Amino acid sequence: MILVTGATGTIGSHVVRLLTEHDIPFRAMSRRERPGWVRADFDDPASLTRALAGVTTVFLVTVPPVPTAAHDIALVTAARDAGVRKIVKLSAIGSGERFDGATVGAWHLAGEEAIEAGGFAWTMLRPPSFASNFLHHRTLIRTGEPIPNLIGDSRQAVVDPRDVAAVAVAALTSDAYDGQRFDLTGPELLTFADQAAILERVLERPVEITDVSALEQLPAEVITGINWARADGAAYITDHVPHLLRRPAGTFEQWARDHREAFTAMG
Ligand SMILES: NC(=O)c1ccc[n+]([C@@H]2O[C@H](COP(=O)([O-])OP(=O)(O)OC[C@H]3O[C@@H](n4cnc5c(N)ncnc54)[C@H](OP(=O)(O)O)[C@@H]3O)[C@@H](O)[C@H]2O)c1
Repeated sequence: MILVTGATGTIGSHVVRLLTEHDIPFRAMSRRERPGWVRADFDDPASLTRALAGVTTVFLVTVPPVPTAAHDIALVTAARDAGVRKIVKLSAIGSGERFDGATVGAWHLAGEEAIEAGGFAWTMLRPPSFASNFLHHRTLIRTGEPIPNLIGDSRQAVVDPRDVAAVAVAALTSDAYDGQRFDLTGPELLTFADQAAILERVLERPVEITDVSALEQLPAEVITGINWARADGAAYITDHVPHLLRRPAGTFEQWARDHREAFTAMG
């Protein structure tokens, strides 16, 4: 039995869709009551114990409000007690890199290390920015207001979240990827302005961006990651997605075309 955490989120919802399409048994987890799902919260150990009963494999997505590995560690602790065999963790590109005297993605690295130390089989998925991040700005796009750009002119191989989920499902259902870390990049390096220009073309409406240089309001760990990205730390492409999925990685433009309606529909 596979437990899918973050099942209502960007990647988890695609994992749920793919497992359903392939008729693979799984249990989806949410903090909210949903028919047929298990209700659990990383901050509630008893709920994790219930969610993990009979589970052999976990897809782990953690998004604590403050960057910390506490949720990963809570899951690891409960998973060890439950006899879980394997954990596939959604991590992030650059986790563990050193930049400006600090560690990039220190919380993801600590989570990865807790999984390794726990004696599980594991696969770590380390994507760069998801193409879908633009959906967070759809109201601004609709009203013609500029979208905040935190990463300056740096480039990233933005990835289609559907590719991340497809690799997650491959890792959850096969032992072939155990003990490996994958940088799940898209096929092309794009600046934020490049992405906005593509979106503008696809949506046939202006997509303005505004550079945000002041980061003081953000937690120090997040600032380190942004500064690393601004210095082109994530400006590289890997062949992990095409290699694992045996097809080309999705482009930002294709993602934008497939989600055109999400930007134009009201709601
Ligand atoms: N966005 C990017 O560009 C990007 C790039 C690289 C890596 N990442 C990594 O990807 C992860 C985020 O993945 P995502 O975008 O798919 O997530 P997401 O869409 O933000 O969804 C987060 C999920 O976490 C669940 N959740 C939140 N707090 C929880 C708690 N206390 N207990 C149990 N579940 C909880 C929520 O489910 P319920 O509300 O249903 O409980 C929700 O489904 C992060 O670790 C991030 O660092 C993101």
